[in-house]
Amino acid sequence: MIYDKYGEYYDLIYRVKNYDGECESLISYFKKFSKDEIKSILDVGCGTGGHSIRFAERGYNVVGVDLSEVMINQAKRKVEGRNLPVKFFVQDMRKLSLKKKFDAVLCLFGTFGYCTRDEEILKTLKRLGNHLEKDGLFIFDFFPLHTYVRRESHRSIHEVEKNKTYILRIIDTSLNLKTNIVEFKIKCKVIKNGKLVDRFEEEHKIRIFTPPEIAHLLKETGFKPLGFFKVNWQAERPYSLDSITLQTTNVACVAKNLGNRINMQS
Ligand SMILES: C[S@@+](CC[C@H](N)C(=O)[O-])C[C@H]1O[C@@H](n2cnc3c(N)ncnc32)[C@H](O)[C@@H]1O
Repeated sequence: MIYDKYGEYYDLIYRVKNYDGECESLISYFKKFSKDEIKSILDVGCGTGGHSIRFAERGYNVVGVDLSEVMINQAKRKVEGRNLPVKFFVQDMRKLSLKKKFDAVLCLFGTFGYCTRDEEILKTLKRLGNHLEKDGLFIFDFFPLHTYVRRESHRSIHEVEKNKTYILRIIDTSLNLKTNIVEFKIKCKVIKNGKLVDRFEEEHKIRIFTPPEIAHLLKETGFKPLGFFKVNWQAERPYSLDSITLQTTNVACVAKNLGNRINMQS
């Protein structure tokens, strides 16, 4: 299963990811787009808890869900004995069922793209919407079509090192133009004290979108799209209010839950 192995090394691979800056910039979205104070958050595809834990540290009541047990176990381990207002569960967002509503639902770092087919995207959006209070915010980011059209197939090489553990990661991407699904073939080698200790391969399939397509999907499922913005992982405040350009490789979307899903089939 994806993230079994990748998940084991996830925190090391993304060790420079600016989770504090991301949370602060998401809080700016809360303030700008919600008339009511956001107090409770559902973090869908929470991974190892990077955002969930920081939001809980800032006083929000948080639930984090993820399909991967490997990821959830790491998140749980990080909060053991800390008495923070956060709970973690293994759940598939496509079948999400928590019997609870939140002021905001987050789905970050490309996670929404793991829903690849139209029917599952629509069903998932309805499920997420049913976990939101009326006028609650749904905030997520996605990889835009324009990035992958420019590089129909592409190889990127990343290296990361911490405490004498070095990871070499090679990612080959290819776009299927009929489905708008990008296949990420990830190969990793883990070297500790100069010795190869692990190697693995995973294939991740991620759907890419255009903003008008996302706007349409949101309107069809009881949301009102409020804006599309540039995400810049290197910035101090990664979730910005800047307009997207052809150079933007990750797009944030903020939507409001209209809450009238009664006649919609799920
Ligand atoms: C790129 S990681 C992002 C994790 C976290 N949001 C972050 O920013 O660090 C994508 C996450 O989505 C999770 N995921 C993929 N498909 C999922 C699904 N159907 N339901 C719930 N989580 C899913 C993966 O297990 C993984 O933890």
